[in-house]
Amino acid sequence: MATLSSIVLAAGKGTRMNSPLPKVLHPVAGGAMISRVIQAVRGCGAEEVRVVVGYGEALLRQYLEPQGITCCKQKEQKGTADAVKAADPASMGDHILIMNGDHPLVTSNHLQEAYRKFLENDCELMVLTAELDNPGSFGRIVRHGGSVKAIVESKDASAETKQIKEVNTGIYIVTRNALEKYLLQIHPNNQQGEYYITDMVSLCIEAGEKVVAEISNPAVAFGVNTQKELALASKALFREKAFQLMEAGVMIIDPENTYVEADVEVGPGSILYPGSFIKGRSVLGPFNVVEPNAFIQDSTLGQSVQVRAGSYLEKAKVGDQVVLGPYARLRPETEIGNEARVGNFVEMKKVKFGAKSKANHLAYLGDAEVGENTNIGCGVITCNYAADKKKYLTKIGSNVFVGSDSQMVAPVEIADDAIIASGSTINKNVPAGALAIGRSKQVNKEDYAKKFRGDN
Ligand code: UD1
Ligand code: CA
Repeated sequence: MATLSSIVLAAGKGTRMNSPLPKVLHPVAGGAMISRVIQAVRGCGAEEVRVVVGYGEALLRQYLEPQGITCCKQKEQKGTADAVKAADPASMGDHILIMNGDHPLVTSNHLQEAYRKFLENDCELMVLTAELDNPGSFGRIVRHGGSVKAIVESKDASAETKQIKEVNTGIYIVTRNALEKYLLQIHPNNQQGEYYITDMVSLCIEAGEKVVAEISNPAVAFGVNTQKELALASKALFREKAFQLMEAGVMIIDPENTYVEADVEVGPGSILYPGSFIKGRSVLGPFNVVEPNAFIQDSTLGQSVQVRAGSYLEKAKVGDQVVLGPYARLRPETEIGNEARVGNFVEMKKVKFGAKSKANHLAYLGDAEVGENTNIGCGVITCNYAADKKKYLTKIGSNVFVGSDSQMVAPVEIADDAIIASGSTINKNVPAGALAIGRSKQVNKEDYAKKFRGDN
């Protein structure tokens, strides 16, 4: 079976982005533009992916190489054909898919479909096209009697050619043999003095090779060149995700203002309010309610969880029927048991919080284990960070009542069924069933208030 490789062109500066970041590293709906393209080409079956880099080379290498992507340096930007040459296609697979790194709306489905057509046609070169009402600066597809004859760049086109609405999306599938043979024959005899990969089309045709231009979806042609186009691309992806979730039974009150990233899962019967971001590898079970302006990153939520307004979750694991917030903050390595409550202005970091336990108001729990059915009062703090700059654990058992405004100075353990009196500073272990009071005794001085105010 023939092998498929891919070359992604990303050496350009992206001048019109007016940003110091290399264009293809700008995020689109949460993921770098280039990573969407890479996901698409890998999803199409490309075993090897080479990205042609130039501007911002160091940053691109730092981002891409750990993902097993080979970066090829194009020394000078002399055009798209020169960029392809920089990838050394002679050492790649039998079939090579070439595309621009700045087309984030291309999916593996688009490319799979294209590759299927390429194989079906048994051609040397296939160019993917789209029909646009405003073909703008895209290369135009010139056909004679239905068959493609050439691609003419807008800058080199006559007024008549500019009328053509079928454009080059910049996606090509070509046999390595044809690419090797004709790439060397491309010369920079055009308006911009650049080596155009698009010249492959006419060169192949003149040599009698089979070339096909296949019409695809306009989304495939959508390239990002400006910040405005970047925002439009994100918008399109968030909208598409919202529509997919709605198909699958999720209620989304305002799909234009709900920001769920592509890999996120949300169970049916859930409701998403506007302004929420659900990111990364988050998985939400059925019947969740996510109120406005929640931020949920790489977190797993069971079923019937309520995430009230303004809550912030990172890498948290949440059981079933939990209520979080409003304004709860769950930091990494926090696990919340079934039917637990984490109320407003409660922060947890690296906490195992047992089923049916509650921390309803204004508390900080860090490096702690809390059993089941325990109540953490308002203003409770685990003092986990010691003067030696190390973190220590607080262990609180089940059915414990921790009175308001208490501090647990870790390392410390409070066994099951204990009660901690309000305002206590606990720095010694508390045995099961004990009442611990760690505060100074109150003194009442009769009539002292009057004297103090000087009213006799
Ligand atoms: C190119 C096509 C055009 C097509 C359009 C689709 C050519 C000559 N024209 O035009 O027909 O309609 O894409 O978007 O190919 N790049 C390099 N090195 C270079 C030049 C470009 O890596 O020397 C990269 C850029 O970073 C970019 C891509 O190639 O990702 C396309 O280059 P660009 O100059 O934007 O080509 P277009 O003018 O858009
Ligand atoms: Ca472009």
